[in-house]
Amino acid sequence: MAVNETGIAVVTGASTGLGAGYAKRLAARGYDLLLVARNKQRLAALAAEITATHADRKVEVLVADLTEAAGLEAVEQRLASDASIEILVNNAGGSLFGPVNGADPAALENLVTLNVTSLSRLTAAVAAPLVARGHGAIVNVASALALNIMPVSAAYSGTKAYVLAFTQGLAQELADSGVQVQAVLPGAVRTEFWDGSGIELSALPDEWVMSVDDAVDAALAGFDRHEPVSILSLPEIGEWESYDAARQALVPNLSRSTPAGRYTAA
Ligand SMILES: NC(=O)c1ccc[n+]([C@@H]2O[C@H](COP(=O)([O-])OP(=O)(O)OC[C@H]3O[C@@H](n4cnc5c(N)ncnc54)[C@H](OP(=O)(O)O)[C@@H]3O)[C@@H](O)[C@H]2O)c1
Repeated sequence: MAVNETGIAVVTGASTGLGAGYAKRLAARGYDLLLVARNKQRLAALAAEITATHADRKVEVLVADLTEAAGLEAVEQRLASDASIEILVNNAGGSLFGPVNGADPAALENLVTLNVTSLSRLTAAVAAPLVARGHGAIVNVASALALNIMPVSAAYSGTKAYVLAFTQGLAQELADSGVQVQAVLPGAVRTEFWDGSGIELSALPDEWVMSVDDAVDAALAGFDRHEPVSILSLPEIGEWESYDAARQALVPNLSRSTPAGRYTAA
């Protein structure tokens, strides 16, 4: 796998939180940036901050709502057509915690559209040109809640389990392409993500919550190690590997011509 340390890094959800953290770190690594989010003022302020620190970086802002066709298509077109793009960080994501029973249908749809549909379409848009060039990277920000499934997290965990499975499948698909693929699973990170989500950050013990800088540095360390899945606070990556191996061990029996004995015994 090869990632050039020049070219453009596209970061979605770059106006604050983990996306802004990624933007600063990737600029420091030598990438020009295309910053995507809805808040133009915040994007412009971040672009100014980065160019003040790294005068030789080009930082462009693309204001887009990824839950709307026009915004999503604008980013897709850029990803598909700009040969300078080296990395896509699919970071934009929403939060929604609480019971499914009684959930606002529009909020559920919005969560799935942003966390699942837009991430999938942007990945597909950039995959073809990256594979054709034989280098580059796709980083998909999932969540530890892909694995920690709780009553309040059914919808959010579902979207992030999708991101994890999608990215693991993509990594297999692109294994010999030269394009690096990483799923990033942060635990709780101190960002605006929690505001109004149904769980306030103040309800979580401090020892559960990571800073943006630490989370992005850990994710990039996992990237440099070519980890396909980076679980940022898990001390032993072998625990994840054992979990994934247990899943793989199911495979020979997941599709057979006869039902399992417990379903047929008289
Ligand atoms: N914070 C955590 O504890 C945590 C833990 C695990 C995983 N994650 C994941 O990490 C990613 C980043 O989260 P964060 O904590 O940095 O969240 P955040 O601080 O709330 O930032 C979310 C970013 O996404 C953008 N965004 C939201 N809706 C959008 C839309 N419709 N179109 C385009 N951009 C949109 C926001 O910008 P605008 O409002 O300007 O559009 C913002 O830049 C998400 O995928 C999240 O699920 C977060």
